Amino acid sequence: MAAKQVVCALLWVLALVASIIEHAGGAVSDFVKTDGTSFVVNGEPFYANGFNAYWLMLKASKTSEMDKVSTVFHQASSYGMTVVRTWAFNDGGYRPLQSSPGVYDEDIFKGLDFVISEAKKYGIRLILSLVDNFKSLGGKRQYVEWAIQQGENLTSYDEFYTNFRVKTFYKNHVKTILLRNNTKTGVVYKDDPTIMAWELINEGRCKSDLSGRTMQAWIEEMAPFVKAIDGEHLLEVGLEGFYGGLDHDQEAIQHDSFASSRNVGTDFISNNQVHAIDFATIHLYPSWIPQADDKTQLKFVTDWIHSHSKVADEVLRKPLMVTEFGKISRFAGCNGVDKVAFYRTAYNVLYKLIRAKSACAGGLFWQLLLPGMENLSDSYEIILSECSYIANIISQHSRLISSIINPSLRRLTVTDQ
Ligand SMILES: *[C@@H]1O[C@H](CO)[C@@H](O)[C@H](O)[C@H]1NC(C)=O
Ligand SMILES: *[C@@H]1O[C@H](CO)[C@@H](O)[C@H](O)[C@H]1NC(C)=O
Ligand SMILES: *[C@@H]1O[C@H](CO)[C@@H](O)[C@H](O)[C@H]1NC(C)=O
Repeated sequence: MAAKQVVCALLWVLALVASIIEHAGGAVSDFVKTDGTSFVVNGEPFYANGFNAYWLMLKASKTSEMDKVSTVFHQASSYGMTVVRTWAFNDGGYRPLQSSPGVYDEDIFKGLDFVISEAKKYGIRLILSLVDNFKSLGGKRQYVEWAIQQGENLTSYDEFYTNFRVKTFYKNHVKTILLRNNTKTGVVYKDDPTIMAWELINEGRCKSDLSGRTMQAWIEEMAPFVKAIDGEHLLEVGLEGFYGGLDHDQEAIQHDSFASSRNVGTDFISNNQVHAIDFATIHLYPSWIPQADDKTQLKFVTDWIHSHSKVADEVLRKPLMVTEFGKISRFAGCNGVDKVAFYRTAYNVLYKLIRAKSACAGGLFWQLLLPGMENLSDSYEIILSECSYIANIISQHSRLISSIINPSLRRLTVTDQ
């Protein structure tokens, strides 16, 4: 590197650090809000640039491993990331937060307290999901089994959405989380601006009712329930972006054959139109079209984000966040050319949509791990120190986003995409 380049790089780092301090410092004392199709903090635009790490509470509640939480937030903030999405549940099973309905393990809860207090320290905001559609940490299935143990005659895990007793368990969990007084900060969760949003259910699906009415009714009941306890935080459903029975007449999706062909009982438009839902979400996995070649998969990435952003702009009039995107490489590890190309494409689309002031306000990749955490590997993980190409794409993306927020950084930006 020539001396001039070193000076430029140093200047850029200083500017980035200044910008992070400026944005992180003030930021976490104010709630993220929406204004039309944008996120705003204290009147300034806010973009989501971050990752998923469902494991934070689990590590935080083990004295020997809680440092991983601090390390990951430190790393994230040094890469300019601003948002992490994680689980505020672990129902039944091994080291549960909620061991049986309404019974909580204080040590695990203190782990979640720590996650929130550390996030605040590093200027990172949290999206906290309240239950899982899937069973790995309990989820919908565990709730239904608890109700069966209490004498309910339930024959489908989709009765999670309809059974009175199960819905009462869920509401109790919502209330317990939102009203938790953080033992590390002394701030009740519902009053803590470190939390950007609540999520009703990760990837909720109801395949037993493809008309969409069951999910719609559940969202219409649960979203206002959350808002009645906590009117400050944003709320999203946790959807992947599929169009179901209720949406099929919508002109906006006539040409989106993939999204409408994969009906899982959810309706991207109708579900997100519920008044108490503040922003829309999509997930994005090229593995949904496994037969497709690389080029087709990259086109899918672009089309999927664009088409939902357009619907969010024109129909929903709410912001959109890509709350999960990820890929398993056909080659070994995260430096595989197909995985790198996926990340490059996804961030390129996100940046262009942000710059164009569309409803799409950023994305969170699935998932970030640290070295030594390989036993949580699902082959989607990014370990920043090992995935150098993708790590560079992420820092470049952060730089580009900073330059939108703070145009004085723009001339120091190395290359535009
Ligand atoms: C449980 O429900 C199923 C279907 O809803 C019904 O056929 C069955 O008779 C019920 N069993 C009892 C013990 O009520
Ligand atoms: C939460 O705990 C802190 C510290 O114990 C206390 O000062 C505060 O009053 C509590 N907040 C509520 C709403 O109980
Ligand atoms: C992963 O390793 C940690 C120790 O680093 C251990 O506590 C945990 O149980 C392991 N998890 C699995 C799923 O093997």
